[in-house]
Amino acid sequence: MTVAIVVGAQWGDEGKGKVADFYAEQADIVVRFCGGANAGHTIVSGGRRFAFNHVPSGALYPEKINIIGNGVVLEPKRFFEELSYLTSAGYKPNIVISPRAHVVMPYHIALDGAEEEKKGALAAGTTGRGIGPCYSDKAARFGIRIDELIQPALFKEKLHTMHELKVKMLREIYGVEFNQTEEEIYNQYSEYAKMLTPMIADSGGMILDSIRADKKVLLEGAQATMLDIDHGVYPFGTSSNTSAGSACTGSGIGPTEIDEVIGVVKVYTSRVGTGPLPTELHDETGQFIRDKGWEYGTATGRPRRIGWLDLPTIKYAAQVNGLTGLAFTRLDTLSGVAKVKICTHYELSGRMLSLPPSSYTEIERCKPVYQTFDGWEDIGAEKWRACTKGGFESLPNEAQTYLQFVSDEVNVPIYMIGVGRDREDMIVLRDAFSKKSDR
Ligand code: IMP
Repeated sequence: MTVAIVVGAQWGDEGKGKVADFYAEQADIVVRFCGGANAGHTIVSGGRRFAFNHVPSGALYPEKINIIGNGVVLEPKRFFEELSYLTSAGYKPNIVISPRAHVVMPYHIALDGAEEEKKGALAAGTTGRGIGPCYSDKAARFGIRIDELIQPALFKEKLHTMHELKVKMLREIYGVEFNQTEEEIYNQYSEYAKMLTPMIADSGGMILDSIRADKKVLLEGAQATMLDIDHGVYPFGTSSNTSAGSACTGSGIGPTEIDEVIGVVKVYTSRVGTGPLPTELHDETGQFIRDKGWEYGTATGRPRRIGWLDLPTIKYAAQVNGLTGLAFTRLDTLSGVAKVKICTHYELSGRMLSLPPSSYTEIERCKPVYQTFDGWEDIGAEKWRACTKGGFESLPNEAQTYLQFVSDEVNVPIYMIGVGRDREDMIVLRDAFSKKSDR
């Protein structure tokens, strides 16, 4: 029995999907525990590219149970679009949804845009998927949960209250006309309720039963540590807890059940959305990496901001998540750059910081202090793939030095290294589920 959490250690888009998919292949249960349609997991399998928003990574395996946990905010329209894409591609995912998960309503999406505009310079550059307003309603106890959506009279009553309130807010505070009527929403969401009903079950209990039955459980994170509502760069992150603690609260099991916490680290930095990014590159090296790695958002298509690897962030992620292993991604993407840099510290008003300060205004003033490393050659897709057999020692020496430096500085061992697009393109040094190690 192993319970493993996979979380992003940076600003998202680290390649969690590929790491989660590696573990999903072995897991009996795969659980999404936070976020919603803002997440964009890309999995490339058999030459085909799947972009998931809600659906857990075990969806490509018919025998796995895929849980959408209570910590998730589910947007039914997109969820069913994802499902029909999967079924049209010949997959029959087994999905279980927590009755305690919250539902993203059309007025949440309208409010997301309106609130972002109002925030001006403090806008987070959200995905526009209604995530913040839905979590706001959850915290204010105004939300509509799955277990309420499927009770027609209760849903009607709650929708009536909320629709009136939100239309008024949108019109009178934000000057936005919201045209979907209460009846339209009721009819549409009642249909969704019927379609969701067969998937609803006590997911927390199911996870615990599986743990007791010696099964393997994967708790897959969405977004990343620096976007966490508490631990990220507030207010430029998302509206849920995205770090490892949330794997418990968002799935319904206790912290004593967790065995492994794997932090996914892209070997450089990328970010969509706004907010300070101390190691951001505005030069041709940044553009080279963006183009080589096709760094454009999965959920929104926006070009991602690119920067050098930011060690204070990774150290912080190790601390906040209690990381037991590192899964590096995109080693091949960073190849072909003559000199690569790692930010080892920030300099803030004459002080050297090894962890990010809490306030974004301070992060904005942080100057990255770099250590420069020799870059590694692009050995080509075939040779990169051969490294998955040859192991760590078969990597270019400069790449070994770079990765080992990060692991030593963060004091967390390397579990995996991604060297290509496909899920096969992974060097596995230590497998959290089998606990076998080649080092
Ligand atoms: P929201 O989650 O849509 O409210 O967006 C809040 C911030 O988190 C924005 O900066 C988004 O770009 C960012 N964000 C949300 N989800 C993801 C993700 O899955 N990957 C990367 N960034 C994300």
